[in-house]
Amino acid sequence: MPGMMRGALLWASRNNWLRERASRYGFVRRSVARFMPGEQIADALAAARTIEDKGLGTVLTHLGENVSTAAEAESVTRHYLDALQQVRAAGLRSELSVKLTHLGLDLSHDLCRANVEKLIQSAGPDSIVWIDMESSPYVDATLDLYRTLRRAYSNVGVCLQSYLYRTADDLASLLPMGPGIRLVKGAYLEPAKVAFPQKADVDENYFALAAKLLSKEARSAGVRTVIATHDRNLIHRVEALARTENLTAADFQFVMLYGIQRAEQLRLARDGWRSAVLISYGTFWFPWYMRRLAERPANVGFVIRDLFGG
Ligand code: FDA
Repeated sequence: MPGMMRGALLWASRNNWLRERASRYGFVRRSVARFMPGEQIADALAAARTIEDKGLGTVLTHLGENVSTAAEAESVTRHYLDALQQVRAAGLRSELSVKLTHLGLDLSHDLCRANVEKLIQSAGPDSIVWIDMESSPYVDATLDLYRTLRRAYSNVGVCLQSYLYRTADDLASLLPMGPGIRLVKGAYLEPAKVAFPQKADVDENYFALAAKLLSKEARSAGVRTVIATHDRNLIHRVEALARTENLTAADFQFVMLYGIQRAEQLRLARDGWRSAVLISYGTFWFPWYMRRLAERPANVGFVIRDLFGG
């Protein structure tokens, strides 16, 4: 049953008809607020201020994907350039996390590369621009573009998903270039021919990939690791591994999504690890929100409560 619910929610995430209608309903908007401080950059910056004051880092994502014109991709790029300026003006340390299809990947590899390059250059060497990983048909194009960018810049990282069979090979081929890697389980509806159908296998692969990322070999290649999960069992296993290997906070970072496992985010910082929160904002939240519901179908209960709660 949870599998069917997940499938239905991920199907809904790709449905434009539903997106246009659901976004108009107050109860849906209210339930989105659990995961998003607001639709405007000012909302994200205010949330970043509160989080950074507690000693955590922040990462910002302007929601959107699959733009269909170069003008839209350029407007998204301009938005991010302005966001970086506002981050600096506010004295925040927020990094960016971007989707390549939001920056024009469906239109042209070169156009998309030029847009991401502008962000990397503006962010400066101490702030990493993170590239999200989208559904499996985009993995090759994303990694190709990532390799090109990483050859020219050190402040760029990419997300890898433990649900894909191919990820162990992708990681092995990326390691020698000293990549920034954000490891996640994966949020899209993928067929069994490309992704582990069983959650237990996804989790085990996550730990194996995390161990590889934190290995001496990877650290000496200059890998920067982000452990991006809310899974407390995995987090505890990674902490135990890090202690056995005598790793410190400088060696890697934990990142979670805004509104999820807040106590654990703070607990990690208190225990001396680097802990950060990814804050999403924007008006194009429907597909992203459906993916968040699919991660924990019990969240649908909150939507229903918001419907009746007025
Ligand atoms: P899992 O799904 O097993 O959840 C573990 C526990 O965490 C749950 O039991 C629940 O308690 C809590 N939890 C998880 N999700 C929740 C939710 N939505 N609401 C409430 N509680 C929840 N994916 C992708 O494909 N490409 C990407 O670029 C990214 N980027 C990214 C960045 C960051 C910083 C994070 C944390 C995650 C992503 N993801 C992603 C999403 C990722 O692939 C995955 O879908 C979610 O993180 C959920 O998986 P967990 O690892 O948390 O484990």
